Amino acid sequence: MNINIKITEYSSHKELSSKDQELVAIAISQLKTSHSPYSNFSVGASVRLENDVIWGGSNQENSSYPVGICAERVVLSIASTQSKGHAVNTMVVVYTDPKGNHDSPLAPCGMCRQAIREQTLRQKKAMKIILTTKHGKTLILNNADDLLPLSFTLDK
Ligand code: THU
Repeated sequence: MNINIKITEYSSHKELSSKDQELVAIAISQLKTSHSPYSNFSVGASVRLENDVIWGGSNQENSSYPVGICAERVVLSIASTQSKGHAVNTMVVVYTDPKGNHDSPLAPCGMCRQAIREQTLRQKKAMKIILTTKHGKTLILNNADDLLPLSFTLDK
């Protein structure tokens, strides 16, 4: 078995379409809503749905650490509840680390990859994912499922 994953790299999100740049700007603006006093690692995420509605979210931590939730799952939950039934076409993820750095794109954690995968199974449509930084490098996967090959599902 071979698993091939296509990841397109850009030196800046300024090279993206205007719609994607708009979504990047919203993910960046979400960084200020991050509640991350424990890690000081802020993550912002945004999604554009098939009906062009945009939602944003950020990581929300808790003093009981495992209770915290990542930005990707926050924004997917918002989309799923506030825009029920509308497929997520594109997701953007950005971050700033505890030193305020954001040089290379964040790779979503395993739990978020599982959540993204399940969303694409529900919507039966691919979700583009844009992993970017405030000023720099951007990685794009046209199918976010590629982040989690051989994923777990209840249907075998
Ligand atoms: N975090 C995200 O929001 N998304 C990820 O994909 C990885 C990690 C958050 C969780 C926690 O609040 C902080 O980043 C440090 O792990």
